[in-house]
Amino acid sequence: MKQYQIVLLKGDGIGPEIVTQAALVLKKAGEKFGFGVNFEEALLGGSAIDAAGTPLPAETVEKCKAADSTLLGAVGGPKWDSLPGEKRPEAGLLGIRSALGLYANLRPSMIFPQLRSASPLRDSVIGDGLNVMIVRELTGGIYFGERGRKTVDGAEAAYDTEMYSVPEIERIARVGFETARGRGKKLCSVDKANVLESSRLWRTTIARIGKEYPDVELSNLYVDNCSMQLVRDPKQFDVIVTSNMFGDILSDEASMISGSIGMLPSASLGSGKAGLYEPVHGSAPDIAGTGMANPLATILSAAMMLRSSLGETEAAEAVENAVSKALETVRTPDIWTEGTKKVGCEEMGETVQGLL
Ligand code: IPM
Ligand code: MG
Repeated sequence: MKQYQIVLLKGDGIGPEIVTQAALVLKKAGEKFGFGVNFEEALLGGSAIDAAGTPLPAETVEKCKAADSTLLGAVGGPKWDSLPGEKRPEAGLLGIRSALGLYANLRPSMIFPQLRSASPLRDSVIGDGLNVMIVRELTGGIYFGERGRKTVDGAEAAYDTEMYSVPEIERIARVGFETARGRGKKLCSVDKANVLESSRLWRTTIARIGKEYPDVELSNLYVDNCSMQLVRDPKQFDVIVTSNMFGDILSDEASMISGSIGMLPSASLGSGKAGLYEPVHGSAPDIAGTGMANPLATILSAAMMLRSSLGETEAAEAVENAVSKALETVRTPDIWTEGTKKVGCEEMGETVQGLL
C-alpha cells in the first residue's frame, strides 16, 4: 500500500482544531481509497515562538522538505502582535513559503450552491455562480524586497521595494496559463503598469509567454480596475495571475464575494510536487478554543493536496463531494442558516468523514 508522509503545521488560534479534522478526513480517505497517511507535526508561527523562540524553526523546514506534502492551519494572534516584524508569526509563514520555493499560490473562489445566499452580491450580479482562480506570485515582490528605515530631511522614514525579475515573472506566468488551459481558457493578468516599472516588465513578460499559449485568451487589468470589476461583474473572470501583494488583496476580496471565507482552500506550489496547503482564512483568535471553527476550508485544502501533490484524484473528488453533501444538513455558525443543524468543528469533520 502506498504510504504518504504529511507534515501538519497546526499553527495558532483555530489552527490546531481545523487541521486535526482535516487530518482525520485524509486518514479516512486513505482507508477508503487504499493508501496510508502518516502525520508528523512541526512548529510554525506563534506556537513556535513560544516553544522554540522563533516563528520558523530549522527543524520545521527540514521536515517539510522531506515530506510528500504539508498541511497548514493558520498563524498569528494578539499575543504576538507587538513583536518586531521579523519575529512575528507571519514571518514564519513567509519564511516557509520562501524556504520551500513555493512561488505559486492558487486561491480558488467559488460559490457553493448551498451557500449562495451568503454572498453579499445580488443574484443578478452572481448569476449562475462564481468560479475564479487567483494565481498569486508568492515568493517575490514587495513582500521580499529590500526594506528598511532611514532619515529623510531629518524625519524618520521607512521603505519597501517591489522588484520582479524576468524569470520570476515567466514561471508564475506559466502557472497562470497552464491553470487557465485546464479551466475556462481565460487569463487576466493584473498589474499597475500605468505607474510601476515592475508592472511594466510584468506585463511585457506575460505577453511574451502568452505566445506559447495561443489557446488561452489573455487580458490585462490595472489592479484598481480589477478590484472594481470583481464586485461589478465577477463572472467575467476565469483565472487571474498577479503579484504577491496584489494577489493578497484581491484574493481577500474574491473570497468575500463567495460569502464564506471559512470555505476556501489554497495551494502553494513550487517546482517540486510537495506543496503546502492551507485555508485562505486566518487563525480567528476570537473563536479559538470554542470548538465552533469551520474546518471545511482546511478539509478542502486537503482535497487539493490529494489531487495536486499526491495524485489521488478519486479521493480528492470524494472529499469534495462529502463536503458538499455535509453542507446540506450540518453547518458551523459562520455559515449556518435556518433548516440546518448548527454544529461545531468536530461534528462537522465527523460528518464529512462519515460521507466518504
Ligand atoms: C495570506 C496572509 C499572509 C500574506 C499574511 C498572514 C502574512 O494574508 O496568506 O494571504 O499576506 O501572505
Ligand atoms: Mg492575505
